[in-house]
Amino acid sequence: MSFYPTKIAEIFKLPKNAGTLNGANAFGTGASFLCGAFVRLSLCIDKEKRITEAKFQTNGCGYMIAAANVLCGHLADRRLTKLHGLTQDEPHVRITDEIGEFPEGRKQCLELVIEALKNALSDFRSRTLEEFQGEKALICTCFGVSEETILSVIDLYKPNDVCDISEICNAGLGCGSCQMIIQEMLDAAESELEL
Ligand code: FES
Repeated sequence: MSFYPTKIAEIFKLPKNAGTLNGANAFGTGASFLCGAFVRLSLCIDKEKRITEAKFQTNGCGYMIAAANVLCGHLADRRLTKLHGLTQDEPHVRITDEIGEFPEGRKQCLELVIEALKNALSDFRSRTLEEFQGEKALICTCFGVSEETILSVIDLYKPNDVCDISEICNAGLGCGSCQMIIQEMLDAAESELEL
C-alpha cells in the first residue's frame, strides 16, 4: 500500500514532466525555509509567447512532484496572453481538479509550485524587457502595452484598480507579471492627485 493517495502515487512513480529543458528561456523557483523543499520550473516560450514545453525539478515530496507535474502538463502549448493574469486561482483549480484537494499540511507544496510558476513568468518578462528595443518604455510584454498608454488610461479613465486598466488596454491580462508595476503607477498617480 502506498503512503500517498492513488493519483499522487501514480504520478510520483512516473512524473513525465520531470527534468530540465534544453533551450529553456524562463526559470522560476519556489522554496520553503520550513522543510527545505524547493521546486524549479523551466519553460520554453516561443516568439508567439506560447509555452511550448515546461519541466520541473524538485527535492520535495510526492505532493509537490504531482502538483508540479500536472501544472507543467497544463502549461504546455498555452499562450501567455491566455493566462488571464493568473488570477481566479486558475492554476490551483487545474491542479486540484486533477489530483484532488491537498491535505492541510501539504497545501504549502501546492503554493510553492504556483510561486515557482509566477517567478518563471516574471523572469521571462525581465528577459523580454532586456531585449526590447522600442522607443517607448514597455510595461506589459504579453500585450505590448507601453508605459505611455497606461499613463494615458489612468489620466483619461480614472480607473479604480488594475482590473479596470486591464479591461481597457489588456495590460496585466496575460501572465500577470506586470500587475505590480501597474499598481505602482496607479498609486503614484493617486498620490499626485492628493498633493
Ligand atoms: S507582462 Fe504578462 S500580463 Fe503583462
